[in-house]
This record gives sequence, structure tokens and C-alpha cells, in this order.
Amino acid sequence: MTKTCQQHGSRSSGPCSPNSGIKFLFFLLFIFFIAPPNHLAAASEESGDGHEGNYSQGVKRGERLFYGLVAGKFEGNACADCHNTVEIDTFNWNPNAWEIAHKYKEKSTEEFTQVVMSPPGRTMSVVHESFDLNESEIGLIKEFLDHFEEKGLAKQKPVINKILLFLLLGVLLTWIVLDVIFFKKVKRKWILGVLFIGALGWQIQLLYDAGTSLGRQHNYEPDQPIKFSHLVHAEENKIDCKYCHHTSEQSQTAGFPEVELCMNCHIIVREGTYSGKHEINKLVAAHEAGDPIEWVRVHNLQDHVFFSHAQHVKIGKIDCQTCHGPVEEMNRVRQVSDLSMGWCVNCHRDTEVQFFDNGFYEKYEELHRKMKAGEIDRVTAEMVGGTDCSKCHY
Ligand code: HEC
Ligand code: HEC
Ligand code: HEC
Ligand code: HEC
Ligand code: HEC
Ligand code: HEC
Repeated sequence: MTKTCQQHGSRSSGPCSPNSGIKFLFFLLFIFFIAPPNHLAAASEESGDGHEGNYSQGVKRGERLFYGLVAGKFEGNACADCHNTVEIDTFNWNPNAWEIAHKYKEKSTEEFTQVVMSPPGRTMSVVHESFDLNESEIGLIKEFLDHFEEKGLAKQKPVINKILLFLLLGVLLTWIVLDVIFFKKVKRKWILGVLFIGALGWQIQLLYDAGTSLGRQHNYEPDQPIKFSHLVHAEENKIDCKYCHHTSEQSQTAGFPEVELCMNCHIIVREGTYSGKHEINKLVAAHEAGDPIEWVRVHNLQDHVFFSHAQHVKIGKIDCQTCHGPVEEMNRVRQVSDLSMGWCVNCHRDTEVQFFDNGFYEKYEELHRKMKAGEIDRVTAEMVGGTDCSKCHY
């Protein structure tokens, strides 16, 4: 590199300016991609001397204990390894740090110590087994958690900001064009070619993503108020989808099970293998208070579209998984299909309906005649009106 620079030194005013230009752009890109890992960022933020007045010595020591930064206190995981202090986008069975902080904020240190050191229930006695903490240290941890409760989980920083990335790619493209036309500083033209195609392609991809995802939420996977797992219920315990989503055969919506239905089993089952008592306790609390559980909807069709589960599940005899993917393998439900108009219409074009022995289709006499006469060998959803605009749009 340096050699090339010296050779063409006469053409460039500064030292190696064409290459340092590239380096600078890569440096900028680098900054956007290699953000510091979140938990480290959060931890260093925490331990930096507080601008907050009440950040006492005790809170700091409690924090170090919670993160496992004090030697010899934990054989295995430290508290923060299980009870995350940063918002995460993966699924975690353990309650997060804010949840436990909030639950014990108003409770006494004795009660807190009791729960951590002589845990009730079989799950917690396994996960809380290997701590070497004395009472005053647990008190310090509680002090830290009380403080933490006010701040809440640290936000996840977006790894890259798409708009900035787009602009940056624009700068790169402009620079390449300027170099080709005016500066002519980069000798190896193929490098410019590759960079140009790469950057342009990336920009187009960003635009395409933004354009096609308007109002849609492919792969949307929100946290739920209770960590209800389809893997545990539908797969490990073989509970039928329609036991809980019991309106899916007769109504437009598949619906969410009411608390009472959960309590059919959970009046007895009070502890789960993965989450212990913590999650089921929330269910029991809702039951006792008579409150519904505010499930977060994963699938959201736009209001101008009409969709009926009964039509597809009962009449169409389509499996839930055809549209929702392998829900029974998910701890947290994820939207698998994009719910676009193309998705609906393509399936209507391709899918043969269960035409015979199906009361619903008796009225289609003309199609029955054609089938008998051998003029057609199958009836698709499209042939019974599945692509008429008015069937799906109000
Ligand atoms: C024990 C009860 C139960 C069983 C069994 C069950 N579900 Fe669910 N399902 C729920 C609850 C509660 C929710 C809401 C919380 C969530 O999204 O996880 C839900 C949510 C869903 C959602 C997301 C709905 C949305 O858009 O928010 C889909 C899809 C779904 N279930 C499909 C299935 C399928 C398919 C099966 C069978 C393999 C099944 N469920 C079995 C209780 C159940
Ligand atoms: C033909 C595709 C298709 C099939 C088959 C299907 N669903 Fe759905 N499901 C959808 C769509 C689309 C939505 C979004 C509806 C909306 O937003 O109005 C949805 C929404 C849901 C919801 C959210 C609550 C609601 O009723 O809107 C649940 C729960 C659900 N489906 C469960 C099931 C279960 C269980 C089965 C199988 C018995 C099933 N679905 C079969 C397409 C399907
Ligand atoms: C037909 C019985 C049945 C119904 C209905 C049922 N569950 Fe469960 N649930 C179970 C069983 C069995 C387990 C597993 C217990 C274990 O791990 O030993 C379980 C476990 C759980 C767990 C803990 C998971 C773990 O392993 O940590 C939660 C939370 C839970 N259920 C919530 C719900 C909610 C919310 C509903 C209602 C939407 C519901 N359950 C309906 C039987 C049921
Ligand atoms: C190996 C993972 C793990 C580690 C390490 C861990 N916990 Fe837990 N903790 C859990 C799980 C899982 C539960 C929920 C168990 C239950 O509710 O039955 C829990 C529950 C709790 C609860 C009670 C929550 C409730 O619902 O009442 C408190 C308080 C708590 N942990 C504090 C701590 C502290 C303090 C530390 C460090 C000294 C720690 N935990 C370390 C996994 C862990
Ligand atoms: C997996 C394939 C599949 C997908 C995906 C699907 N459908 Fe269907 N749909 C069918 C089949 C098969 C029928 C015909 C059986 C029936 O009439 O129930 C049908 C029928 C219908 C009907 C009734 C048409 C009539 O003749 O009355 C409507 C309305 C409908 N679908 C709307 C939708 C909408 C809206 C979507 C997308 C959100 C969608 N469907 C996605 C397979 C699908
Ligand atoms: C099988 C069901 C179905 C049929 C048939 C159908 N649509 Fe749609 N349409 C949808 C769905 C689902 C959406 C929402 C798509 C989305 O969110 O991107 C939609 C969206 C639209 C939109 C709005 C686009 C947007 O981004 O919101 C228009 C306009 C539209 N459809 C027109 C039509 C016309 C015209 C026809 C008849 C030629 C038709 N549709 C037939 C399901 C259907």
C-alpha cells in the first residue's frame, strides 16, 4: 500500500489520500457494525461514577456481586447471567432482573434473602444452589436491585441505524463516481467496480425491505406477559391446538384461551420445569384477581381484509401449521407467513378444495357437472370465488 502511495506520490497532495479515503469510509462502516456488546456497555455505564446522587457504595458493591465480579461467590452462573439486566431479543425462561427487582421492591430484605438462599420449589432449589453469599451480601444485592428497579432494563441499542447506513452508502457511491470522473486516484478500477456494485445493491436491498414490509410484520416475535410456551403445551404435553383455540372451527377468530381454561390444569400444576413458579404465579394471580391476561397479538391483518378461521379450518380442512408454521416447536410464537395479499391469493390458486362430501360445496352444481363430465379434474379455491376482491375486502 505504502509503496503504491510513494509511486504515485506526485499525483496526490496529502500522504496516500486515495487510500486513506477508502480507509476512512471503512472506518465509518466499522463503527456502525462493531458496537460494543450491550451487557458490557451497560455494566460499564453502571460502574462509572454516578451522576445520580443516590448511587451509594452499597449499591455499587451489590451490583458487582450481582454481575459475579467478586471472586469466589459463584461456582456457576452469577445472578446477571440468568436474570438479564438488558433487554434481549432471544427468549429467556428466567425472570429478568427488573421483574425480580420489582417484585421484591416493597418486600423486606429478610423475605428476599429467604427466597434467594432457601428457595421454595424444586426448580429454584436447583438454579439457586451454588452461591456462597452471606446475609449482608444479599442485602447489598437487594440494595442494587431496588436502585435498578427505578432505571429499568437497559435498552438494546440498534446494531445499525438503517437510515445512516443508507446515507453512508450514498456517500461511498458519490465518492466512487467522483473518483472515476475527476480525481482518478484509485488505480485498480476493478476495486471501484466491486465497491460500486456492492454499495448500490445494498441500497436497493434496503429500499426494497422498507417498501415491502410496510405495515407488515414478518418474523414478528413479541414477548408475552406470561411466558406461555407452545413447545411445553402442544408438543411436550400433547395438548390439542383446538382445546385452547376452541373457536377456530366455528368462528372468524381462533381466539385466545381465557384464564379459567388455563386453570383447569394449573389449579394443580403450580411449577414448571423451565420457569419454576415464577410464570405460573402470574397466572394464578390473574385468576385470583379476576383479571384477563393481556396477550400481545402476533398476527395482525389490516382492517380492510376479511379472514375467517372457520372457513379455512373447518370447511377448507387446512392445518394450522400450513399458515402458522411449526408453532408446537416455539417457546415464543413467531409470525412465519407474511400475511400479504400475494400469500392469500397464491394459495387460493394452488390449493384444491375438499370438494366432495363437503356440504359447503353442494351449491356449486356447475362445477359438480364439469367434474363428472371430466372437463376439470380438480377444484381450487380460486374456482369457488377465492380470488374475487369482494371475498376478502369489505
Ligand atoms: C394450552 C393452551 C394452548 C394450546 C394447546 C395451543 N395454544 Fe396457541 N396460544 C395459546 C395462548 C395463551 C396464546 C397467546 C400467547 C402467545 O402468543 O404465546 C396462543 C397464541 C397462538 C398463536 C399466535 C396468535 C397471535 O397472532 O397472537 C398461534 C398462531 C397459535 N397460538 C397457534 C397454535 C397452534 C397451531 C397450536 C397447536 C399446535 C396451539 N396454538 C396450541 C394457547 C394455546
Ligand atoms: C389459511 C391460513 C390459516 C390457518 C389454516 C389458520 N390460521 Fe390462525 N390466523 C391466520 C391469519 C391470517 C390470522 C390473522 C387474523 C387477523 O389478524 O384478523 C390468524 C390469527 C390467529 C390467531 C390470533 C387470534 C385470532 O383469532 O385472530 C390465533 C390464536 C390463531 N390464528 C390460531 C390458529 C389455530 C389454532 C389454527 C388451527 C386450528 C389456525 N390458526 C389456522 C391464518 C390461518
Ligand atoms: C391441559 C392442561 C394445561 C392447560 C390447559 C394449560 N397448561 Fe400450562 N402447563 C401444563 C403442564 C403439564 C405444564 C408442565 C409442567 C412441568 O413442567 O412439569 C405446564 C407448564 C406451564 C408453564 C411453565 C412452563 C415451564 O416449564 O416452566 C406456564 C407458564 C404455563 N403452563 C402457563 C399456562 C397458561 C398461561 C395456560 C392457559 C393459556 C396454560 N398453561 C394452560 C398443563 C396445562
Ligand atoms: C441458573 C440461573 C439463575 C441464577 C444464577 C440465579 N437465578 Fe434467581 N431465579 C432463577 C429462576 C429460574 C427463578 C424462578 C424460579 C421459580 O420461580 O421457581 C429465579 C427466581 C429468583 C427470585 C424470585 C422470583 C420470584 O418470582 O419470587 C429471586 C429474588 C432471585 N431469583 C434472585 C436471584 C439472585 C439475587 C441471584 C444471584 C445471587 C440469582 N437469583 C441467581 C434462575 C437463576
Ligand atoms: C394455505 C392456503 C390458504 C391461505 C394461505 C389462505 N387461504 Fe383462504 N382459502 C383457502 C382454501 C383452500 C379455501 C377454500 C375452502 C373454503 O372455502 O374454506 C379458502 C377460502 C377463502 C375464503 C372464502 C372464499 C369463498 O369462496 O367464499 C376467503 C374469504 C379466504 N379464503 C380469505 C383468505 C385470506 C384473506 C387469506 C390471507 C390472509 C387467505 N384466505 C389465505 C386456502 C388458503
Ligand atoms: C384472498 C384474499 C384477497 C383477495 C381475493 C384480494 N385481496 Fe387485496 N388484500 C388482501 C390482503 C391480505 C391484503 C393486505 C396485504 C398487506 O397487508 O400487505 C390486501 C391488500 C389490498 C390492497 C391494499 C394494499 C395495501 O398495501 O394495503 C388493495 C388496494 C387490494 N388488496 C386490492 C385488491 C383487489 C383490487 C382485489 C381483486 C382483484 C383484491 N385485493 C383481492 C387479500 C386479498
